Amino acid sequence: MAPFEQILAQSSFSKEDLICLLNSSDKERLMLFEKAKEVKAAFVGKKVYFRGLIEYSNYCKKNCYYCGIRSGNSRFARYCMTDAEVLEAVDYAYRNDYASIVIQSGEQTNKAFVTKIESLLRRIHQQTDGRIHVTLSLGEQSEETYRRWFEAGAHRYLLRIEVSNPSLYSKLHPNNLSHDYHRRLDALKTLRKAGYQVGTGVMIGLPFQTISDLADDLLFFRDFDIDMAGMGPYIEHADTPLYQYKDQLLPLKTRFDLSLKMVAILRIMMKNINIAATTAMQTIDQQGREKALMVGANVIMPNLTPVKYRQDYLLYENKPCLDEEAEECKSCLEARIHMAGDTIGYGEWGDSKHHSERNT
Ligand code: 5AD
Ligand code: SF4
Ligand code: FES
Repeated sequence: MAPFEQILAQSSFSKEDLICLLNSSDKERLMLFEKAKEVKAAFVGKKVYFRGLIEYSNYCKKNCYYCGIRSGNSRFARYCMTDAEVLEAVDYAYRNDYASIVIQSGEQTNKAFVTKIESLLRRIHQQTDGRIHVTLSLGEQSEETYRRWFEAGAHRYLLRIEVSNPSLYSKLHPNNLSHDYHRRLDALKTLRKAGYQVGTGVMIGLPFQTISDLADDLLFFRDFDIDMAGMGPYIEHADTPLYQYKDQLLPLKTRFDLSLKMVAILRIMMKNINIAATTAMQTIDQQGREKALMVGANVIMPNLTPVKYRQDYLLYENKPCLDEEAEECKSCLEARIHMAGDTIGYGEWGDSKHHSERNT
């Protein structure tokens, strides 16, 4: 066997192996993708699960250097969806058999916010007879808050580590306690302890980030034994501090290709976790999400946010689906999933198999 094939045939990868896989091109790159496709079919099947995405609010107390809705950016309007709007989006998901939703928002930790989320969770549970599973993506919170929300019915949580290298983390965030790498890591551990299925992820192609960093990110996912992953290319936003490095970035196509490789390698490494085909992938490539599905992703997030708010939730530029109502995103994604040769797990929660196997 050629050395590349030998690496692919292994059951676990060293950091050197990962770097070699990330650097693959031509025939070898296609072999990597083919292997990931086989692993996906064998371990999680060719079914894709919907998570209806509710971008609840763009208020954020943080000031991450890469993000368009950072607190320091005042060039757009801040909003928070009303209870009625949230419950209407939930109702859409329920009627259309999505089975799962994600509530995402900028980071807020005040008492009113925590209580509001708790009461919304209870109302969602009531309104849907507990048939809709809720994933939260609401940033770093106290252990008590994570526990309260779990009690109120949320069982999955997404909190990206963003980059697993602490010194790179500090270059991408202001230097203060609310942007501290170790606090973020602790938050991930607390989520696990509180009983959640835990998802994390990174951005790919950031300024100062190296291939070695990306290999470390993959090792981080393995060592933390994550249940779910959401990764995507970094896309610059003009109203953020990191924009000054735009000329040093890898070309968009390269960032996209590296993101595909990260998905494929992670699928081979962690065979039964859930991996999202993220919206950022489609920002660079028209067929970005289908391509991610073809190399291992098995979760997709149709947008349910009312259209009037969409242009105010721009974490990065050129985000797709700004004018498309829930119905349009639904049929668009149905077509895309079909093109990727997969089917949609309507009515199924699609919990992380990795999580259930760890707990049995
Ligand atoms: N490009 C790509 N992804 C971004 N995010 C924030 N800003 C950007 C950007 N400029 C991602 C972060 C965050 C998630 C909600 O959006 O990884 O965790
Ligand atoms: Fe806020 Fe998240 Fe954007 Fe950071 S990445 S500024 S925490 S919304
Ligand atoms: Fe929204 Fe395609 S997913 S328009």
